[in-house]
Amino acid sequence: MHLGDGFGRTFKYLRLSVTDACNFRCSYCLPDGYRRCGGPGPLTLDELRRAATVFASLGLRKIRLTGGEPTVRRDFDDVAAMVAAQPGVEKLALTTNGYRLPQRAETWHRAGIRALNVSLDSLDRETFRRITGHDRRDEVLDGIDAAFAAGFDAIKVNAVYMKGINDHELDAFVALAKDRPVGVRFIELMETGDHAAFFRRHHLSTDIIARKLLAEGWTPRLKAADAGPANDFVHPDYRGSIGLIAPYSKDFCKSCNRLRFSSQGKLHLCLFGEFGVPLRSWLQSDDQMEEFRDRLVAAVTRKTDGHRLAHGLTGMTSNLSAIGG
Ligand code: 5AD
Ligand code: SF4
Repeated sequence: MHLGDGFGRTFKYLRLSVTDACNFRCSYCLPDGYRRCGGPGPLTLDELRRAATVFASLGLRKIRLTGGEPTVRRDFDDVAAMVAAQPGVEKLALTTNGYRLPQRAETWHRAGIRALNVSLDSLDRETFRRITGHDRRDEVLDGIDAAFAAGFDAIKVNAVYMKGINDHELDAFVALAKDRPVGVRFIELMETGDHAAFFRRHHLSTDIIARKLLAEGWTPRLKAADAGPANDFVHPDYRGSIGLIAPYSKDFCKSCNRLRFSSQGKLHLCLFGEFGVPLRSWLQSDDQMEEFRDRLVAAVTRKTDGHRLAHGLTGMTSNLSAIGG
């Protein structure tokens, strides 16, 4: 059995948010820091296990743990090992801000995580501090080294590209890919409900980067059929690659092959424009798993074919920490 929508897409990739809490305060995401809202906490290990078992049985072969910052969970190592052990899961990935990587890279690799996305928006120590609220650039850079030493299959560095903040750092970011097989990716700033003014001030199209890369001898890499939305560039003198993620570009959503499950147990068929389908009540005991599966299949069949960001609709997404960018 596989999960498919009415547009011929089948979903093999799940982003599983394991907490909406975060220890950073990135200016485009949680500028005032994380505040715990009342109500139930994030999905427990047992709830996550039931969800992961069912998603894996439906053909979701790649699962990415996201947040918030997933690794602030005290039982994070158990969550990772549990998901990695689900029959059908071929690839377990993690998105992290990297602050615990220097100490934990090896443990997480041993738990079964194979791919890492590290958020790093500036290579300048002071700018990094200003964006995230933490003076931790060096830890994140050390963490990337530790991840290479631990033997992950794929390591990516994600930078949100922002006018007047880090747009002058392009060369420094590109240089990261010179001697290491790292995927450096520039992500266009997305408008969220909380930060309309920030978006207007700092949004910049990644077309500028594409033109620069082409002028400097980079060539677009052909997209694999199941590739995500990044447009990748390669260069004979560089071991790594550069990727551009432009959510406002035409046809961005066509290649979307992912589902999102929030830390509150809601299924999000798109980052933007809808409330999420609440499914947590069917994760309370093992004998509910069949009903959870049926509800999941019904919800996915209704997935629409694209967001409406370009029309100024940000839906109800106030920031991305709850459902995992
Ligand atoms: N625009 C673009 N990317 C965002 N992220 C979070 N909020 C936004 C936003 N408004 C992404 C970044 C960050 C990851 C945790 O989520 O890539 O590194
Ligand atoms: Fe935390 Fe990621 Fe949001 Fe930054 S972007 S505040 S690291 S959840």
